[in-house]
Parts: sequence; C-alpha cells; structure tokens
Amino acid sequence: MTATLDNPIQALSEYVSYPSVSADSSFSDGISGAREFATQRLQDLGFSVETIETPIHPVLLGKRGDPSWPRLVIYGHYDVQPPDPLDLWSSEPFVAIEREGRLYGRGAADNKGPQIVHMCALHRALKKNPNLPLHIIYLIEGEEEIGSPSFRPFLEARKEQLAGDMLLVSDTGSPGPDQLVVTTGLRGLTAMEVKLKGPRQDLHSGVHGGALRNPLQALAQVCASLHDSSGKVAVDGFYDDVIEPQDWEREELSKLPIKEEDYQEFLGVKTLSPPPGYNALEAIRFCPTLEFNGLGGGYQGEGSKTVIPSQAFAKITCRLVPNQRSADIARKVKRSIEAVCPESIQVEVEVKGGGDPYVIIPPGKPGSTGHETKLMQRAFPILEECVKNQFGTKPIYLREGGSIPIIRDLQEVAGLEALMLGLFTNEDNLHAPDESFNLKIMNQAIDSFETFFLNLGKS
Ligand code: BES
Ligand code: MN
Repeated sequence: MTATLDNPIQALSEYVSYPSVSADSSFSDGISGAREFATQRLQDLGFSVETIETPIHPVLLGKRGDPSWPRLVIYGHYDVQPPDPLDLWSSEPFVAIEREGRLYGRGAADNKGPQIVHMCALHRALKKNPNLPLHIIYLIEGEEEIGSPSFRPFLEARKEQLAGDMLLVSDTGSPGPDQLVVTTGLRGLTAMEVKLKGPRQDLHSGVHGGALRNPLQALAQVCASLHDSSGKVAVDGFYDDVIEPQDWEREELSKLPIKEEDYQEFLGVKTLSPPPGYNALEAIRFCPTLEFNGLGGGYQGEGSKTVIPSQAFAKITCRLVPNQRSADIARKVKRSIEAVCPESIQVEVEVKGGGDPYVIIPPGKPGSTGHETKLMQRAFPILEECVKNQFGTKPIYLREGGSIPIIRDLQEVAGLEALMLGLFTNEDNLHAPDESFNLKIMNQAIDSFETFFLNLGKS
C-alpha cells in the first residue's frame, strides 16, 4: 500500500495501520512506521525533513519555502493512545474501516485524521501554486499522548528553528459538521500518583483486623477529603489564581448548538454535577478539576478474600485553567493529601508532570492586544471565511476542556500563538473503543484549508 495525498481516505487508512502507541514499548515498530509515513508525506509535499532523536520517541521537523516569507508552524502528533479494552472494538483498531461516513481506527481522529486534512489541503494548494509564498515549518511529535516529556528540552535546544509568525493546530474538537469551533484555550494538567503503605505485607483480616489502620480505608478517607459536598475541590488555595471567563466567551458559548439535556443523555448520567455557579458546558471549559483516574489495592479477583492489603494507590490528575500553574497546584494537592492521611500510614505523592493552561484572545476580540503578528491578524478572518464557505456557518470561538501542554510551551519559549480549528467531535470516541473520524468533516476541512493556505499566501 503506497498512500498518496491525492486520496485522503487511503492516506489516513495507511497512517492508522501503523500502531503508534507511545505508552507501550512493545509498539516500537508502529511508532517508527507512523513516523516514516509522516516523513514521506512531508517529503512528497516538498519539505526537507529532519528526524530529531529524543530519549523516547523522535520529533519530525520539516521545512519548505523561503525563510523570508511569512512563517507558519504546523503541529501534530503521530502517536496514539493504547487501543484497550480490545474486546469492546467492533473492528480491529489498527485496520481502518469505513462505515456510515466514518473511518474507524485508533488515532483516526486523534490526531492522524486532522493531520491528513492539513497535508491534503497543502498538497492541493501547492498544486495550484507551487511557489506559495509561505515558509512552513512542520512539527510532528510522538509523545503527546504520554505528556510530551521530551518536548520542552527539544524546544529549548531548537527554538531558533521554530521561529515563526504563528502556529496552526487541529487537535481539538467541535460540536459537529454544522458548527465548527476555533479553540481559544486548553486546560492545563498536573498528574500525580499517590501510594499508601501500611503493614509490611498483606495480612489475614481476622487474625489482625482491629489492630491497625487499613491502607485502603485511609485511601478512601484521603480521596473523599479532596472535594466538598458541592463538588468543588477542597484543597487549600486551589482556586486562588483562577480567573473568570470574559463576557464574550460566555456569549460565544451560548451559540453552541448542544443543549445540556443532550449532553447529559450523551454521557448516560442521571444528572450533571457542575460546580456551583456554572452549567456543565461552562464547567468543562472554565473550571479546574481534580479527578481520580484509577484507584487500587487489595483483592480484585472473583469472589471474596479476607485480607488487609499492605498498600493502596490512587492516580490523580487535575485540569487547570488560567492563571493556575501546574507546579503550584501539584504542591498544594500534595500538601493536602499528606495532611489528611492518617499518621499510621506512610504516604508518598509522586508528581508525574503536566503543563500549564493556554488561552488566546483572537485578534479583534475584547481584550486582544492588537500586537499580534500580521500573519495572525490575517489568519483568523481568512479561516473564518473559509469555514463559513465550506460548512455553511461561521466558527464559534471557545475554550476546550482537553490539554495539549506543548502549546503553552511553544508560546513561552518560541513566542508562537495558536490558531486551532477543532475537527473531531464527541461521537469520535477519542481514547476509547471504536474511535472514528467523520469523513464529511474531513472532506470539507480539506477544502477549507486548501483555500486558507492559498489566501494566506497572498500578500
Ligand atoms: N487531542 C487531545 C487533546 C484535546 C482533546 C484537546 C479534546 C481538546 C479537546 C490530546 O491528544 C490529548 O488527549 N491530550 C491529553 C494530554 C495528556 C496526555 C498530557 C489529555 O488531554 O488528556
Ligand atoms: Mn491529540
């Protein structure tokens, strides 16, 4: 199978066929396959491509055009989340299959499909205008789904090569093909692992029960202490640096075609539980969270076992909003856990990294600086126009709940601000079984970006 950018579905199918799971070293062939695929597609587009080694998965850095032209940096990630649980997939996760207007497969939406959109659009634009006067720097990394641990050092070392006038990203969501979103913010993240240690080994709960504190009980106590009864995070100072959304942001949100009732039904819950003062659609964008991603300890098998486990653990992540900082929140949560944990239990809180939140006020919106680069000032209205022509409605401008920590890093280190057009939807099942990409969105987005690139190249 040799994909060409003339055929987007075929190209995406081949990209999906490389199982590029960054979290699991047994997928190293898939990682190199996806990376070589992306390298070749960039070379087809006339880019010179450098593969830059990192301690885990290499970064691709591609370049085309004259550096004196307006400079556009395009970001994507070639890695994907693990396909588990495998038995819940309707078809093989790494064999792309088209069903009812969607292409199924792990990574089809996050982030291979949107990358194919950019590449196919550029392919068409360059066919029409081979000398398109845009200096394009392509940046495709392979560690996004594990928190981009190598990215910051890479960036510090290579920031001169990433100098540009703006960043283009499609790794965020939209409600659906009738309403696209330009993403104006991403939540930050801080990840922690908590380990509670009690007796030196598992114990008979009859022989020893009553004599000592059970680590699982202590874990439950610790976890329960981290929220109050209204659902707010009960960690001292957690909300200190949170800033309220702007009026225009609430107004944009009111244009969202999704209603809270639909969202509740989509989630399959009896009621939504946003924190006081926010509805659920606001909360995922404007509020920080503390979530338990995994709890463990003791017997997990069939039937019962009368045991006091020696250890218990929790995996916790917080989503952060401006102006919270990842390191500060990690410190505060760690302190809170250590203070609550019963003295007889040894507690370790390991901070697993994260990233700070990102926001951009689009050029011309209230609060914007007016000092954006010329390219930035042109790009937002050009994209708005292209989306309107293809999708029939103007995009709305909204912050998102997900995180792409490197966007903030690129802003801080390379001075790049991001134009992000959301191309996946809730129905795409990101990180879950039966991930898919909506082919109608794919085709219309290719047409939109083709015109976007051509118009952006006109001086
Ligand atoms: N593409 C997502 C981020 C995303 C999802 C942004 C939905 C906006 C809406 C990205 O690949 C992702 O999943 N990121 C992780 C980051 C983490 C592993 C550091 C996330 O948000 O959990
Ligand atoms: Mn992604």
